[in-house]
Amino acid sequence: MHEGKSLPILLMGPLYPPTQGELESRWTVHKLWEASDRDALIASLAERCQVVVTSGGLGIDAQTMAKLLKLKLVACFGVGVDAIDLAYCAEHGVAVTNTPDVLTEEVADLALALLLAAVRRVPGGDRFVREGRWLKASMPLTQSLQGRRVGIVGLGRIGHAIARRCAAFNTTIGWYGPRPKPEIEWQYFPDIVELARWADVLIAACPGGPETRGVISRAALEALGPEGIFVNIARGSVVDQAALIELLGSGRVGSAGLDVFEDEPRVPTALLEMENVVLQPHVGSATHPTRTAMGQLVLDNVAAWAEGRPLVTPVIGC
Ligand code: 8YV
Repeated sequence: MHEGKSLPILLMGPLYPPTQGELESRWTVHKLWEASDRDALIASLAERCQVVVTSGGLGIDAQTMAKLLKLKLVACFGVGVDAIDLAYCAEHGVAVTNTPDVLTEEVADLALALLLAAVRRVPGGDRFVREGRWLKASMPLTQSLQGRRVGIVGLGRIGHAIARRCAAFNTTIGWYGPRPKPEIEWQYFPDIVELARWADVLIAACPGGPETRGVISRAALEALGPEGIFVNIARGSVVDQAALIELLGSGRVGSAGLDVFEDEPRVPTALLEMENVVLQPHVGSATHPTRTAMGQLVLDNVAAWAEGRPLVTPVIGC
């Protein structure tokens, strides 16, 4: 049992402000990004800090965790824990929690927004109206989503929510995952290149991390082809970004809707200049209600740990 303010927490970066406020009102929060000397802050916490709170993007590496000798819990604001060194955590008895389920539908909504925006050139149409071009000409016709084949890479919670939405838009669903799921009625492809060859639209919805690095390869993107649409709401790491840029630039992939990038928030200039690409600043879960729910899960997990209760959403249990 750890009583309120006597529990020091290392916070790796700013959180959704109401969540951060609540965290600070309940426990003693040390803000790493505000420290003038980060090493000194970590050294001062080495013998007493048992809890780290971080976000999906920031995570925490093994080197930092190794300096926190008493570390017992890493609570992540986000479902993706690819930026946390899970191998270190498992080996050193550090529990890890994340924020699943509460963001599933929100992220799936953004995937559809990106897909529709890319297919129907929504940002281009918006610019067409704003720039007064409609007064002189008609907007060029676009592709259609109707009747097309959507291939989803990763049919976990988010992938499944995307598939349900796509099915409602009169598309045919196929999917890839590391193993088939007998309960799923949609066509399974054991190979991403084959899925991409079959599909008109390829949507990345798999976790990030070493196991999925570059799984959407140059070969998969080439198989998707000049009419193909690529959507990524997963992680920038899951696609060969250099190949994607080259193929979009030369018309060998038709268009893309991207919420995530290899080196966020830096987005390659080539992508910024492409008309056939719709870009978002990693906002899949970025709405007030969803961020509130994610924050609540972080707070609930820290409170559960502090009070010796079972963690609410463990990735690695105590
Ligand atoms: C957030 C995310 O952007 O949940 C995830 O894995 O990528 C997002 O919800 C992030 O974790 C919040 O900083």
